[in-house]
Amino acid sequence: MLTYKDYISKVKNINLKRETPPLCYLHSFGCQQNVSDGEKITGLLVDMGYGVTGDLRSADIIIYNTCAVRENAEMKVFGCVGELKHLKEQNPELIIGLCGCMMQQKHIAEKVQKTYKQVDIIFGTFALNEFPKLLFEAITNKKRICEITENYTENQEEYNIVRNSSFKASVPIMNGCNNFCSYCIVPYVRGRERSRNSSSVLNEIKQLADSGYKEIMLLGQNVNSYGRGLDEKIIFPELLRKINGIDGDFKIRFMSSHPKDATQELIDTIIGCDKICKHLHLPLQSGSNRILKAMNRQYTIEQYMEIVNYARSKIPDFSFTTDIIIGFPNETYEDFLQTMQIVRQVKYDNIYSFIYSKREGTKAAEFEDFTSFEDKSRWMRELLQAQREISTEHYKRFNGRILSVLFDAESKTEGYISGKSDEFIIVESKADKTVIGQRKSVKITRTFNWALQGEIID
Ligand code: 5AD
Ligand code: SF4
Repeated sequence: MLTYKDYISKVKNINLKRETPPLCYLHSFGCQQNVSDGEKITGLLVDMGYGVTGDLRSADIIIYNTCAVRENAEMKVFGCVGELKHLKEQNPELIIGLCGCMMQQKHIAEKVQKTYKQVDIIFGTFALNEFPKLLFEAITNKKRICEITENYTENQEEYNIVRNSSFKASVPIMNGCNNFCSYCIVPYVRGRERSRNSSSVLNEIKQLADSGYKEIMLLGQNVNSYGRGLDEKIIFPELLRKINGIDGDFKIRFMSSHPKDATQELIDTIIGCDKICKHLHLPLQSGSNRILKAMNRQYTIEQYMEIVNYARSKIPDFSFTTDIIIGFPNETYEDFLQTMQIVRQVKYDNIYSFIYSKREGTKAAEFEDFTSFEDKSRWMRELLQAQREISTEHYKRFNGRILSVLFDAESKTEGYISGKSDEFIIVESKADKTVIGQRKSVKITRTFNWALQGEIID
């Protein structure tokens, strides 16, 4: 039987016969984990002889790596795929592929097959190894192919990863989720939790550090339950300490942590390790114990606050960010006010808030919901307004202070570049583009409700 590597060679041989190398365009929707999968798929395409382009119109193959977490993420994908129809008409040789979380759902894959005839290849989150074969068949047989398996065959070590950045790297340390929060599609589209061996994670990070990467983002749907199910005995804080021990001029971040697995040992490790950013993204989802229970979050607000208070007792400035869902089925205004209370109490440096979106196949999709969308939208506006006031006030603590900032982009403000401080706050400075990719000390001179501004001093 041919392996995926054989199919890589077969496609490459076809592409080598062309006068100029064909080009691939890939866009990942959704979370960092999906973006990280996209880097592996791009790696496969490069191995198969494709060049990479950021211009959709010049591409010989277009891949959309999709997200299923909320309905609006799915609508975006359908919109983009619809727009490809005329490109396919102009160039019938163009290959269009859809992959990722959305495609792992049968009803969606079927809808795509039925409605979007321009799509040649469909594969889910478990079928990366199948992709070269699917592509070979699409090129040679000119037939449309759909491959949605639930067998996990991927081996991280084997992949050539084409990273989107030369100074920030994402490293998945685990994949999948066992928590089954009642609103969430992830366990259905990414399967059960699987942690990578620590030696494999550490080797990858050593290589990244040697190549000069300045920031390593450890990824997982539930990073802080890392280690469960592995033969070796290791827990997440221990992995963090080992990574911290690797030589190199880099900082460590990780995302996302589940409050039920956030221990004092985790906080002590963050504080005790010089390379770890003093910031924790700790999704709250709701400030109401009644709603947390219906969400199957497996913690109470009191337990959540215990971990926040512990971190703040060690470092009063410890930075927290969070995710919040507004309008879970039958959430009342009283429940929402409890969320507001926690938001005011914790003083997050940033919140990512979402109106609840019903996901077919999840437990919460069966719950009746009497709360109107208008009410949910109004609560959302209230929350955002409160957070703007909190950030405006809370960011002032940085005025005059020196923060370490990794600059990663040009700013919308003319002549400025922007980056993230260790606290995960946007910082802008007047500087040349050549500073992008460098970590600098910045003295904060101005604060807004969404960012800080300052002068680079070193
Ligand atoms: N509706 C709205 N938001 C959701 N999230 C996950 N599932 C849903 C849903 N069905 C949010 C959660 C999670 C973040 C990644 O997306 O807040 O932490
Ligand atoms: Fe979207 Fe979740 Fe899949 Fe990430 S894991 S792409 S958030 S559905």
